Amino acid sequence: MKKYINASFPHLLHGGDYNPDQWQDRPDILAEDMRLMQLANCNAMSVGIFAWAALEPEEGKYDFSFMDKAMDDIYKAGGRVVLATPSGARPAWLSMKYPEVLRTNADGSRNTHGMRHNHCFTSPVYREKVANINRRIAERYKDHPALLVWHISNEYGGRCYCENCKNAFREWLKNKYKTLDALNHAWWTAFWAHTYTDWSQIDPPMDHGEKYTNGLDLDWRRFVSYQTTDFMKNEIAAVREFTPNIPVTTNMMGFYHGLDYRVLAKELDVIANDIYPTWRGTDADIHTAMLTAYTHDLCRTMKHQPFMLMECTPSHVNWHDYNKLKRPGAHELSALQTIAHGGDTVQYFQFRKSRGAGEQFHGAVVDHEGSENTRVFKEVSALGARMKQLDAIVGTKTETRVAILHDWSNKWALDSAQGFQNKNKKLDSVQHRFYEPFWKRGINVDVICPEDDFTKYDLVIAPMLYSVSNAQGEKLAAYVAEGGTLVCTYATAMVDDTTLAHLGGWPGAGLRKVFGIWNEEIDTLYPEDHNTVATDMGNFKAVDYCELIHAEGAAVLGTYQSDFYAGRPAVTVNSYGKGKAYYLAFRDTGDFTDAMMAKLMGELHIVSDFDGELPHGVSAHSRTDGKSVFVFLQNFNNASVCVKTAEKWQTVEKNTPVTGDISLAPFETVILKKAK
Ligand code: GAL
Repeated sequence: MKKYINASFPHLLHGGDYNPDQWQDRPDILAEDMRLMQLANCNAMSVGIFAWAALEPEEGKYDFSFMDKAMDDIYKAGGRVVLATPSGARPAWLSMKYPEVLRTNADGSRNTHGMRHNHCFTSPVYREKVANINRRIAERYKDHPALLVWHISNEYGGRCYCENCKNAFREWLKNKYKTLDALNHAWWTAFWAHTYTDWSQIDPPMDHGEKYTNGLDLDWRRFVSYQTTDFMKNEIAAVREFTPNIPVTTNMMGFYHGLDYRVLAKELDVIANDIYPTWRGTDADIHTAMLTAYTHDLCRTMKHQPFMLMECTPSHVNWHDYNKLKRPGAHELSALQTIAHGGDTVQYFQFRKSRGAGEQFHGAVVDHEGSENTRVFKEVSALGARMKQLDAIVGTKTETRVAILHDWSNKWALDSAQGFQNKNKKLDSVQHRFYEPFWKRGINVDVICPEDDFTKYDLVIAPMLYSVSNAQGEKLAAYVAEGGTLVCTYATAMVDDTTLAHLGGWPGAGLRKVFGIWNEEIDTLYPEDHNTVATDMGNFKAVDYCELIHAEGAAVLGTYQSDFYAGRPAVTVNSYGKGKAYYLAFRDTGDFTDAMMAKLMGELHIVSDFDGELPHGVSAHSRTDGKSVFVFLQNFNNASVCVKTAEKWQTVEKNTPVTGDISLAPFETVILKKAK
């Protein structure tokens, strides 16, 4: 039932990026770090992330002294190590001797040495050098009792346009399409005489080259995910050779646009994420909390198991436009929110502030001042003490009956489409708009992809699912036919998975009969325009997109009130097999989505595990071990609130009985349990 990150250490992990390699001339500070780590109630340190230059100062000459010491010291202090491979940045000698490892930009220029994440993912030399250093590290520490998890590289991202990468792209395409005819058809290259007659003519999309072949754009983005994953697999294979049983992860960046994280996820044992929300200590935090929860839900759903929060800041970052401090209490609140949504770790960038260079003023557990007497340190330590009392929650799962579909390929296809609102199609904001009604009512939501099993959900919401293959269309149809409730919106199934328009009327991919509608046209409104949609729940404002649909069997639940399509359907529901398919043909400003989702929650009896009514800005998300349900009641208001419950709860930490009125101080979290 429970799924631990590493069963040898069944506790919540608390700690952070730790860089003893930067302090090798300060044994006093390294010793102090261990004392502070214990005082901060930290038990997991991420070591070696950018330490290649220290580990291999000259080609083939290794120096593991700082790492040996860190592994031993951390273990002696009761901690464990999340051990990194150093590929995110490399020593200068490597770039100088093998310039092919440096990244090439879309304009053909090659980067000079410096920065980080500045390498080619295809370069055979870089792959060999990375595998070599990874093997050396793995071989050295394979039996070290501190080794808990592999932290593979750091925030993979970006792309390279060198000849090696272009050739690899062409090979990937050959493998996918087999013939140029098939590729030319899928990309519709007869348009503007773009027909390819030889594979070598194909280049990635570039600003000064091809940029309007949508199918090329989509395949290039898919290739970048594939190639990055292939690079990562090379890294993983090197460490698995020595440590087949140590779990591997890499730190992701939530909904980062550049990579389909689900492709990477297949190769990992556990998902890890880095997140730096803009907590302000104002009412704006409630929206931020909702967005942050949505990202956590993605991370949990990618493997349907607890994930790691690999990086967050205990106080502030140095790269936002305004680097405001987290207000007192806000850090504990945001950290516990991670656990509420299925995270089993709270780790920081960074444990000790670096003295110089680009991130010297980034928040950290230990300040330049150096002691345990800072506000931030005390808050981190108090959080760690609290986390120690939450062993019961480690490894537990999150049960959901609702899923929102987010597919990277769909987002890329939509973004590259020329039309609609060109600058921003607003897929992200419409997903958030559907997520919010569930979040604020304390209902768990999974963030799934087309490959997930839909049948375990009572409600699947797929906003702006623009790109749908025939196979995906069949799967959605089968889900509804078997009793599921599906909600789709404007811009559904307009193109297939190569971006070719579906012929025969939208929604395509066989979904026209499922929704019982035909979407004839899509009207993109100017920002100052609006329409009104009348429903039996009231009248709602329509903005941005209004589709002109025909009901072909579906019942009409709402109609447009103005413009030349006044009286035409704007919301429909169709019974298909044992289920129902809802089509929302317009974009609202949030109130309609909320009312509609509330209505569906009522019809499908989807309720929170917490019985009480939640005030604005209070969330209640749950996890379960099968016997008990654990609810995190969280107040994101910078003001006290009172929540009422009729049920009999106990606090997880002290087993104190709780019922009736629960008062929550600003930013307070109360963690409750009851028998399931
Ligand atoms: C992350 C990165 C860390 C650090 C941090 C600063 O993106 O992985 O190394 O730079 O940002 O917030």
